[in-house]
Amino acid sequence: MILRFAGLDDLPSLDRLEKECFEYPRFPIPVLVDFILADGAYVLLAFTESPGRAETVMGGIMFVVQRTEKGLLGRIASVSVLEEYRNQGLGRRLLSEAEEVMRQAGASVFSLEVAVNNEAAISLYESLGYEITERLEHYYGLNEHAHRMEKELED
Ligand SMILES: CC(C)(COP(=O)(O)OP(=O)(O)OC[C@H]1O[C@@H](n2cnc3c(N)ncnc32)[C@H](O)[C@@H]1OP(=O)(O)O)[C@@H](O)C(=O)NCCC(=O)NCCS
Repeated sequence: MILRFAGLDDLPSLDRLEKECFEYPRFPIPVLVDFILADGAYVLLAFTESPGRAETVMGGIMFVVQRTEKGLLGRIASVSVLEEYRNQGLGRRLLSEAEEVMRQAGASVFSLEVAVNNEAAISLYESLGYEITERLEHYYGLNEHAHRMEKELED
């Protein structure tokens, strides 16, 4: 597996993840472009490694490091793994790598939102030490509620 930060050439891979992993693509192309280009925003993609063949995207994670009154906050915007590569530890690996990047950028709290019925993602986050801190009513649309989950780093 190859893990690397995305460039603009990777937009088709990123778009594929959005379309195949979510019921509705949440981030239109201009937002994906911003994620790739903006300071403090990151897109990390995992690709199959097969010599002599074009690389194929397996999954990815999008995250930002933001300055808040409480200090630097790492926010995970999206993590996605194509169905055929699920349940092999890739989601956990992507999150761990993102945490390391955010930690090195100075963030000491990581935060994300997840749909209350997304059991796979909630279990993944809990397995990495994230805790539900808030319920966000109608966050994704009418009756589509979310949990905010956070993880604080020890000093
Ligand atoms: C959520 C998602 C990223 C998990 O990716 P993955 O590569 O399959 O996850 P992993 O194999 O690393 O699993 C790590 C842990 O997550 C949990 N988990 C993953 N899939 C699960 C499932 N279907 N049901 C319950 N728990 C699950 C387990 O605790 C698992 O640990 P274990 O294997 O030791 O039991 C993937 O299912 C996905 O892309 N879903 C669609 C997009 C999405 O909803 N993203 C999250 C919101 S942004």
